[in-house]
Amino acid sequence: MERTLTIIKPDSVAAGNAGKILAHLEAEGFQVVAMRRLHMNEAQARAFYEVHKERPFYDDLVAFMTSGPCIPIALERDAAVGYLRQVMGATNPEEAEGGTIRKLYATNVERNAIHGSDSQENAAIETAFFFARADLLG
Ligand code: RTP
Ligand code: MG
Repeated sequence: MERTLTIIKPDSVAAGNAGKILAHLEAEGFQVVAMRRLHMNEAQARAFYEVHKERPFYDDLVAFMTSGPCIPIALERDAAVGYLRQVMGATNPEEAEGGTIRKLYATNVERNAIHGSDSQENAAIETAFFFARADLLG
């Protein structure tokens, strides 16, 4: 079993799509290891997406991610990291395949419904950002 980190983003929570997205993930074989609801402040959002700090969309991304509560979830499944990226679909929903979460629920390239870790290394870093070791045992 492998673990990854997803975030049901503020657009999905505000639109009342969080439950549908979690059901979609469960139907794809993911199990919830740890889950919380959190309205990120600016420092938290800047730190989480620090890898993008030089990108032109960074400030907008931080504003979006702090616009309302989100739901970080540590997930478990065989080949979880790669499979989550497949189930999410492309960053831009216009380019996402039919049936993917972003095709179903995203608004645009920024308000794109869900985050997924892009490597096993980042999955571990991002999971530790939101969850304590004790949340992840058992
Ligand atoms: P994520 O990290 O959230 O799972 O998304 P991703 O890997 O598919 O895309 P990434 O390149 O890591 O971008 C992170 C998030 O920044 C926002 N974004 N906005 N306005 C834009 O052109 C733009 N590009 C990216 C999105 O919310 C994207 O998911
Ligand atoms: Mg990314």
